[in-house]
Amino acid sequence: MGRLSGKVAIITGAARGMGEVTARLFAEEGAKVVLTDVLVEDGRRVAAEIGEAAIFVAHDVRDEDQWKAVVKAAVDTFGRLDILVNNAGILRFVTLAEMTKEDFEQVIAINLTGTFLGIKSVAPVMMAQHSGSIVNISSTGGFRAMNSTGAYTASKFGVRGLTKAASLELGHHGVRVNSVHPGGIDTPLTNPDAKSTEEVNANYGRFPMQRAGQAIEIARASLFLASDDASYCCGAELVADGGGLSGQYFPGLPGAPPSMQTT
Ligand SMILES: NC(=O)c1ccc[n+]([C@@H]2O[C@H](COP(=O)([O-])OP(=O)(O)OC[C@H]3O[C@@H](n4cnc5c(N)ncnc54)[C@H](O)[C@@H]3O)[C@@H](O)[C@H]2O)c1
Repeated sequence: MGRLSGKVAIITGAARGMGEVTARLFAEEGAKVVLTDVLVEDGRRVAAEIGEAAIFVAHDVRDEDQWKAVVKAAVDTFGRLDILVNNAGILRFVTLAEMTKEDFEQVIAINLTGTFLGIKSVAPVMMAQHSGSIVNISSTGGFRAMNSTGAYTASKFGVRGLTKAASLELGHHGVRVNSVHPGGIDTPLTNPDAKSTEEVNANYGRFPMQRAGQAIEIARASLFLASDDASYCCGAELVADGGGLSGQYFPGLPGAPPSMQTT
């Protein structure tokens, strides 16, 4: 029996990257999965590859009416709704001085408002059945900033905060709400030119694990929080970042790996 047997999950942004891998893993673990995305062709293909356990719904997470349609499709097709993974997100590298108001608002609308709408849309169903798990994909950017990611950082701090508020409001209804905080993961978001793993990893030498993460490593973190294994986790922050939030190696000081030594 899979760790999600009998459960029904909605996963946003599931046409590629972490959302796709999460949908595939959840289905392998026995869940019925509703994949949603603005990338319709890719989303349909992934759902078809998963098979009978999956459907795809075209969905922009900024649109409240489309959220209603997604929840209805989940319940009409599979009879219930147990899990939401608020995964859809975008990243723009622009300094605050150069960013337009439209750029800023677009990132907030997808990453933060989209997550709010997801929580709001599934809450009535999950509260009525007195069970559910909502997994919000934040980022290590929900703890600390990186230059040229002002809107993204603000949105991911926001997702972390929203998770706390939701865990209070829904926890006593039997609905757990938690956040996942990936570090740099090798997906089309961070690696649009599909550079080799070696090239990608070269940017991570200053962090303990000295490599980027893979989408499956985040999918497994979401699986834990989505499953009954996490039955006492509510409002928790699950960091999966190869040690990045611990700090960075200072070249030349004892304890740094050989690749970071200056001589
Ligand atoms: N890749 C990383 O290093 C990293 C690190 C930390 C957090 N994250 C977060 O993980 C999540 C998944 O990222 P990924 O790396 O798999 O990126 P990705 O770009 O590969 O996938 C994101 C998916 O979201 C979809 N999407 C974008 N706008 C949408 C909208 N308005 N409505 C519905 N779907 C929309 C895209 O079409 C895409 O399929 C994002 O929230 C991202 O911020 C990624």
